[in-house]
Amino acid sequence: MNLIDRRALLLGAAAAFGGRGTPALAKTEASPVGSAHDGLNAQARARGLFYGSAIDQNMLANDPAYMDHVARECGMLVSEYSMKWGTLRPTPTTFDFSAGDKLLAFARKHGIPMRGHTLAWHMDNPPWLVSDLKPGNAEKILTKHAQTVVKHFKNRLVHWDVVNEVLWSKDGKPGGMRDSLWYRALGDRYIDIAFHTCAEADPTALRCINDYGLDYALPDDERKRHDMLNLLAALLKRGVPVQALGVQGHITAGNVPFDPRVMEQFINDVTSMGLKVLLTEVDVRDNDLPADLAPRDAGVAAAGAAYLDAVLKNPHVIGVLTWGLSDRRSWLNDELPRADHLPQRALPLDTELQRKPLWSAMAASFQKAPQRT
Ligand code: XIL
Repeated sequence: MNLIDRRALLLGAAAAFGGRGTPALAKTEASPVGSAHDGLNAQARARGLFYGSAIDQNMLANDPAYMDHVARECGMLVSEYSMKWGTLRPTPTTFDFSAGDKLLAFARKHGIPMRGHTLAWHMDNPPWLVSDLKPGNAEKILTKHAQTVVKHFKNRLVHWDVVNEVLWSKDGKPGGMRDSLWYRALGDRYIDIAFHTCAEADPTALRCINDYGLDYALPDDERKRHDMLNLLAALLKRGVPVQALGVQGHITAGNVPFDPRVMEQFINDVTSMGLKVLLTEVDVRDNDLPADLAPRDAGVAAAGAAYLDAVLKNPHVIGVLTWGLSDRRSWLNDELPRADHLPQRALPLDTELQRKPLWSAMAASFQKAPQRT
């Protein structure tokens, strides 16, 4: 039995890796709002999948009701930003794990596996990194960061998003690579460095490459799917230890051409390389929908159902996370607000922490998904 299978058994988070194993560890504390046995993760686990959500330290510190629902609904957690450079690295010589450790303590208190996000990204970097990173020092800086961070969380995180959003064809670089600070310093070799360092620092964490814009029958998405398949093949060919593709799944309800056959084919192309797939940041933007709640919630649920139905058909898809659990907190309201500035209704629970049609649609998608062995 390899390290990953043993860790999954130990953590009782078999679904975390899409492998066999013991049922998940009983959650150490049922949430006051109801049993974890009726949450979205319970629906997912019944088919050998997991469901989870991004959480953040502000919610943890200030909204116990939200976190009670997280404990009820989730079987996987990821930090929205406390494990990114911007939080972890106040200076070139210091690391601040305090926020990440608090979130991880919550996860372990409730017996919920947690995934790491992310070791190299073009955003949310501290000013000193942006100004100091050079071709001559970048490998040392990235290796030190990845080594220190992955070892700090060793045996306590089940996945890592090792690199995030590395493709952006509009930058005109070979292979559609994003012209990020990492690319400018190291070329695409930064991906190799990050993955090898992560594998050495914690061999048991599932190593993922994570990206968005892979979803629609649109020229940009088609180009990114093409570039991602080529990148994954090239990484595997040169021995980079990538194990899974994280498809962020920031989708849109309304005027977008979603073709399930295109998505199914892409997921099949990825898993045919021997890689697992997971949906890592699902939310359903409702910018194109009317203000009235009923049609908005119905449109969001329909888009979520069509997307999950298509993706979950492939038995090598191991789970789904949403980028937040409740409309009470969504990055979409900061970054992609509606024209009428109404809060988006992009997530499974509403602002009052009540289950919405999207919750039911996701539960139904889990129930119809092929059983994972
Ligand atoms: C976002 C967070 O939600 C925001 O709070 C933060 O200000 C910026 O980053 N894709 C990703 C996530 O991989 O890390 C991003 O999270 C959303 C897009």
